[in-house]
Amino acid sequence: MGLLKQGFVPWLVGVLFLISLLFCRADVHHYEFFVRESNFTKLCNTTTLLVVNDSYPGPEIRVHRGDTVYVNVHNQGDYGFTIHWHGVKQPRNPWSDGPEFVTQCPIQPGTNFTYEVILSDEIGTLWWHAHSDWTRGSVQGAFVILPAENETYPFPTPDADQTIILQSWYNGDYKQIIDEALATGTSPRQPDAYAISGHLGDTYGCPNDTIFRMQVDYEKTYLLRIINAAMNEEKFFAIVNHNLTVVAQDASYVQRFTSDYLLISPGQTMDVLVYANQNIGQYYMATRPFSDSAAPPIDNITTGVFYYTNSVGGLNASLITLPAINDANASNNFVSQIRNANVTQNPPLKVPTDIDRRVYIAIATNNLPCNTSECLNSVRFAASLNNVSFLFPRIDILQAYYNRSTNGVFTEDFPLEPPVFYDFTGNLTVLGRAADEGTRAVVLNYGEAVEIVLQATELGAGGSHPIHLHGFSFYRVGTGFGNFNNVTDPSSYNLVDPPLINTVHVPRRGWAAVRFFANNPGVWFMHCHFERHSSWGMDTVFIVRNGTTAETSILPPPPGMPRCPGT
Ligand code: C2O
Ligand code: CU
Repeated sequence: MGLLKQGFVPWLVGVLFLISLLFCRADVHHYEFFVRESNFTKLCNTTTLLVVNDSYPGPEIRVHRGDTVYVNVHNQGDYGFTIHWHGVKQPRNPWSDGPEFVTQCPIQPGTNFTYEVILSDEIGTLWWHAHSDWTRGSVQGAFVILPAENETYPFPTPDADQTIILQSWYNGDYKQIIDEALATGTSPRQPDAYAISGHLGDTYGCPNDTIFRMQVDYEKTYLLRIINAAMNEEKFFAIVNHNLTVVAQDASYVQRFTSDYLLISPGQTMDVLVYANQNIGQYYMATRPFSDSAAPPIDNITTGVFYYTNSVGGLNASLITLPAINDANASNNFVSQIRNANVTQNPPLKVPTDIDRRVYIAIATNNLPCNTSECLNSVRFAASLNNVSFLFPRIDILQAYYNRSTNGVFTEDFPLEPPVFYDFTGNLTVLGRAADEGTRAVVLNYGEAVEIVLQATELGAGGSHPIHLHGFSFYRVGTGFGNFNNVTDPSSYNLVDPPLINTVHVPRRGWAAVRFFANNPGVWFMHCHFERHSSWGMDTVFIVRNGTTAETSILPPPPGMPRCPGT
């Protein structure tokens, strides 16, 4: 009997070891991020920017599905900041999610903090960026998640892949731009250019600027990993003479469809196949903003080059065909084609059907009284969700919640519907309805089925909004125009193959409905990914309570969480 037991234990350990080899070859990676000021010369002008490892964009993280990544971030700059791993769900681990004063306090100059980035079912392309003031304009990079070792792509394996980061370029420090705008109550200024992976291309007239070049071989297939890292601009993107086949969005596979342009919102990522089957030559790739708001961004086209090996000449700017900046039909037609792919490489489709918690959120830009000596006008720009303009607390919400000392940090009463119903999408003449300022969260029970309907309003400049939720991917089950009707509109929902995304495009004069199960305990930020809207208060927080077991509860805080200033 004793012998039998002695033999059984090693046998069991051996079997478990083999099983673990088969199913979870998850690797652990370590990255070092040194964050400091570096000089960059663009537009014939030299600017000092805070960047990671002296590069703009910063280093690419490249791992496999299910891996864990430790990133040791050394602040060698002049001010505090944080980093967010956009689209990584971080199961039970809000401590490493990153939004300043929501899940942590800033990493102070001269100190460091190691983020533990826990991947689960994300597959494809995500990105990382600073999550404090406007520092994400320069502190940003790609986060590539390859199939796990025993997995394949749900399409023929591409011959190579290429990351393409769409950016806004400012001559000047990003933090200073937003700090000044907030102090004076004005709108932050427009970017000086747009960039593709750090290159401004050949449309801005400075002969020293470089152009992004991607080399391809005839009849090979390339996987483009496109990231919209721009500050305030949704983007159209196209390559002359080449079709784009969309295969993934926000790190989950979508049903393949082919288009001659993309619409990608800030925060979103898209994986796209391109077949190099045209005449050997050089072709422009090009991007320009999309906006149908009354306050559109500057309409500049930024170019790159898609060139076949051994080709010269032939670049022809007149062949660039991008939709016009305000072409809402082009934008809506593109978005409406995106559906979840029914492939084993995707997380099993689990769309909530019986909803426990409904939240209806009106999105607005507002005016609030401006009453400091620096104000340029009697009112200042503001923004809100359900008329609450979010105020960042001085101690992070996660710490206050975890330590049960929420007093004076936040309240748990974010309104679950707009306090006033009006014709949200009508021709509103009021420029700004006053909003209330506050730090108010929604508290969800573990496992609840949640529906959030995001309603665009015509207050202020109107227009569309890319709304991003941390800690989750959600299903986009519906989208439409006008004021959301909770009786008739749900009948148009797609509960069969809705895309699983982390940033949803809410159309102008319209709405978008998303659903998810609140199965990730923690404190999760939700905000517009137009940076000026987020800075003005278009943000809120979802807190998901612990479940009943240790496995459904928030992990303990890691060592070395940055201290909040003044504590
Ligand atoms: Cu891309 Cu809250 O972030
Ligand atoms: Cu917005």
